[in-house]
Amino acid sequence: MENSTNGHVVSEEDKKFIFDYLNKLYSANTETISEVYSGFASVYDKANAILKYEPFKGLAKDLAVFFEHKNLENKKILDVGCGSGNLGKSLVKEGFKNIDGLDMSDKFLEMAEETKCYGKLFKVLFTSNPTPGIKDNSYDVAISAGCYLACHLPMDTIFELARIVKPGGYIHYTVSDPNDKMDFMYWQGKLMKEKKAELIYMKKEPYRLEPTKNFEEVHCYYVMFKVL
Ligand SMILES: C[S@@+](CC[C@H](N)C(=O)[O-])C[C@H]1O[C@@H](n2cnc3c(N)ncnc32)[C@H](O)[C@@H]1O
Repeated sequence: MENSTNGHVVSEEDKKFIFDYLNKLYSANTETISEVYSGFASVYDKANAILKYEPFKGLAKDLAVFFEHKNLENKKILDVGCGSGNLGKSLVKEGFKNIDGLDMSDKFLEMAEETKCYGKLFKVLFTSNPTPGIKDNSYDVAISAGCYLACHLPMDTIFELARIVKPGGYIHYTVSDPNDKMDFMYWQGKLMKEKKAELIYMKKEPYRLEPTKNFEEVHCYYVMFKVL
């Protein structure tokens, strides 16, 4: 028996799978999230396919358009929370070539390595403190897809992104906060108020389906800052 909601058809088997997956994700906290993701490595792509999660494609495309498709191969990029490498693959498809990745999960980093899209891969729990091995002003762009959401990257880490990006470089990420837990406007305002970065754009885009909202689409924002 299949249910159709708001145009999206999800089988009972997939529904059961995805509720179990998201229950684990939603009951995680900052201490347990790394372990939860380790358990997700083998099912991550399946979950993303059911949830129609692919903002990494739009984020990579927008970055290429922003640079007018020029000199993309020379832009030094850090993919923060690279996971299995979805964003790296999309960036390479757009013409970017100089991409490092960072994630807290060994298993996801192994998958990212297999994509062959990344140069250096850092195993780090990303916080607002200086990231070991990454100096000030190291990158032209720090980018992150699907990581600014509850229990993942805390919003204060945008200050660390501003530290590792060169002045004149860019910070580009998705933020999804359907339950208003992130206080993302406060942190973005603080970044601007402290003259670390200026806002280039913030726009509403599709994020993925949300089972608790009857498999309707939820939105995220694509945000771009220029580092000062
Ligand atoms: C939803 S996945 C997104 C992965 C990838 N960017 C994509 O779009 O498919 C979130 C990723 O963020 C990583 N992550 C979450 N919080 C992190 C933190 N504080 N430091 C490093 N990695 C983190 C997780 O291990 C996971 O790989």
